[in-house]
Amino acid sequence: MDKKVTVIGAGNVGATAAQRLCEKELCDVVLVDIIEGVPQGKALDLTEAAPVEKHDSHLTGANGYEDSANSDIVIITAGIPRKPGMSRDDLISTNAGIMKNVVREVAKYSPEAVLIIVSNPLDAMCHVAYDASGFPKNRVMGMAGVLDSARFRAFIAMELNVSVENTHAFVLGGHGDTMVPLPRYSTVAGIPITELMPQDRIDALVKRTANGGAEIVSLLKTGSAYYAPASAAVEMAESILKDKKKILPCAVYLEGEYGFKDLFIGVPVKLGANGIEEIIEIKLTDDEKAALQKSADAVEELKEVLSKLGS
Ligand code: APR
Repeated sequence: MDKKVTVIGAGNVGATAAQRLCEKELCDVVLVDIIEGVPQGKALDLTEAAPVEKHDSHLTGANGYEDSANSDIVIITAGIPRKPGMSRDDLISTNAGIMKNVVREVAKYSPEAVLIIVSNPLDAMCHVAYDASGFPKNRVMGMAGVLDSARFRAFIAMELNVSVENTHAFVLGGHGDTMVPLPRYSTVAGIPITELMPQDRIDALVKRTANGGAEIVSLLKTGSAYYAPASAAVEMAESILKDKKKILPCAVYLEGEYGFKDLFIGVPVKLGANGIEEIIEIKLTDDEKAALQKSADAVEELKEVLSKLGS
């Protein structure tokens, strides 16, 4: 393949993302993890599935970064997932340390790469990656909004008994309890859901979306969601690799947009060959603005925790 994507962390999210990337034949894939044998074993297992799945993507597993050199995109899933009773924010000190070390290596070997951050707490980890990489802001982004929107879409389709393909949904803000699903901009075949279901049902779906990650954690008990997070990260990667210019909600560095400065938070952006090619500012109602402000405040709090940790 003429494109190369490295996935750091060969755990649940990372290995599933690698599988989706190669089965869509988007690129060659390098899986990197600190556990000896795991990235090599998973890469070999996926390679052995290739004849049946009918793709020619090459997969490599490694414990170092040499094989990742000159990647077009690096998806970072390294870190610990949460367990029942934990919030994403509880992961901050462990994952900030991992993120800093990983990103320094990534930046050394792939100075032109686009970084897609997946590790939680997402918005805070984007700040760590941005600082540690020294990359321009168009090449550092976090995966959250695509996942949160996909969850909202799945719930809308279940509620109305319609195809998921007919659904569109928008979720802004940080990737936490304060995320901001926008029912006005969420549609079925172009019709806003506010026309299709009563307010109490919309409220219930919005709440379920905000708790979507925790719902999976409470069912799995030993870790967090990975199929949908991997799908979401790969949708972002695909838009960049193919220069599709899809509009997707991603965590990006704001410098005045939506009234926020020096802050990573989820907003709609255009993703193409140059990474984040445009930040799209949509009009918000006063209530939506207040909800986004609350979400931004939560990310600011985590930034303060990071500065106390020295990250
Ligand atoms: N370098 C490379 N890999 C690392 C490092 C490191 N410094 N530290 C940890 N890892 C690896 C672990 O060895 C493990 O294989 O990261 C992998 C994480 O995989 P899982 O434990 O299965 O976690 P996963 O469910 O994939 O979630 C990873 O994504 O969605 C977020 O909240 C989630 O922060 C978590 C991350």
